[in-house]
Amino acid sequence: MKLKIDQRRLSAEIEMLAAISDAEPPAVTRIVFTPADLRARAWMISRCEEAGLAVRQDAIGNIFARWTGANPAAPAVGTGSHIDAIPNAGKYDGVVGVLGGLEAIRALQRSGFRPSNSIELLVFATEEPTRFGIGCLGSRLLSGTLSAEAAAKLKDRDGQTVDEVRRKAGLNGNLQDVKLAKSYYKTFVELHIEQGPLLERAQVSLGIVKSIAAPASLRISVEGSGGHAGGVLMPDRKDALCAAAELILAIENAARSSGAVDSVATVGVCDVFPGAVNSIPSRVGITLDIRDTDLARRDGAMKSIERAVETISKKRGVVIQTELINADAPAECAPEVRTALAESCREHGFPFLEMVSRAYHDSLFLSRIAAAGMLFIPCRNGYSHRPDEYAAPDDIARGTLVLAKSLAKLSS
Ligand code: GLV
Ligand code: MN
Ligand code: MN
Repeated sequence: MKLKIDQRRLSAEIEMLAAISDAEPPAVTRIVFTPADLRARAWMISRCEEAGLAVRQDAIGNIFARWTGANPAAPAVGTGSHIDAIPNAGKYDGVVGVLGGLEAIRALQRSGFRPSNSIELLVFATEEPTRFGIGCLGSRLLSGTLSAEAAAKLKDRDGQTVDEVRRKAGLNGNLQDVKLAKSYYKTFVELHIEQGPLLERAQVSLGIVKSIAAPASLRISVEGSGGHAGGVLMPDRKDALCAAAELILAIENAARSSGAVDSVATVGVCDVFPGAVNSIPSRVGITLDIRDTDLARRDGAMKSIERAVETISKKRGVVIQTELINADAPAECAPEVRTALAESCREHGFPFLEMVSRAYHDSLFLSRIAAAGMLFIPCRNGYSHRPDEYAAPDDIARGTLVLAKSLAKLSS
């Protein structure tokens, strides 16, 4: 089998997809089910149809594009990632796994390979938590990690529910039907940029993921007392933003003091009410994103944050409420996928590192119903979720080649 990746076409497609965005280039903003996202999804579907794939969408908007194998009743071999993007993101997060996955399938088709198991490209809906507050909504539903009832009720910042938003996008199916049987996929492989600096530092261009860190997130509201910035004396204040600031530092400390590089915690949202220069903040909403490869250590850090909440609310006379959005377990990548990836690398003489994914991915949830694994390629300076995110065309093509080879092995 002679496999050749069309690197020029793949790079051009990455640029085309990046142009479908709500941000000034080079930034990409593609929040799920906005007009830009809907245009990107339609563009993606037409690319898949052009490749002769049979396309279907489920009720949450996961897109399945299938190359039917010689044995169509056998479980499929899946690959894919997401094309939604957080505000002010780059071009490569998720996109490399989707367009790379499509190019891997086209390269296999061009080579004359005929799969026994069907090979299916899966474009996950709403991987990013931007709109509905929870990441990987599509794969949570596919894997049954989240119930259809709970998903339907989630709201965006404008108060629109998932159910309303998806129906406006033309997705009228039943959310109950999104869940896949455990026999649906034989294996699943996701190609993705590393989103960290380790491959680049080691000067190795491929990473085979061993495990995916466990993410958790919380919504936290701090209720204090507002008033005039000149009139209210300092001893009388219950400034919600000052309390939130103290809590944010306690959150940072909870991750730092674990002593492990895999412990990370981030407050990425801070909404201040009323948000006026001469008004004491009366209400603040923040989010907590906390992750670790070790579940017990992550949960220990969450406990210490809970203790900080109690101490700060007592000390400052504010009310702090926390709402758990998700607390997921980590995933081990499947040995058969790791082996297929490692053999494919070796056959091409490509060195690789075995590594942990500290970012979460849809593969975390797919691993609950299928043998799942991931292949990483480097991104410059480890930058991701920012406009200067960059992956070199050679690295993308190399990752796509290894992906294609692995899909061939897994579907033979
Ligand atoms: C995925 O985008 C993540 O935040 O890890
Ligand atoms: Mn992302
Ligand atoms: Mn991603």
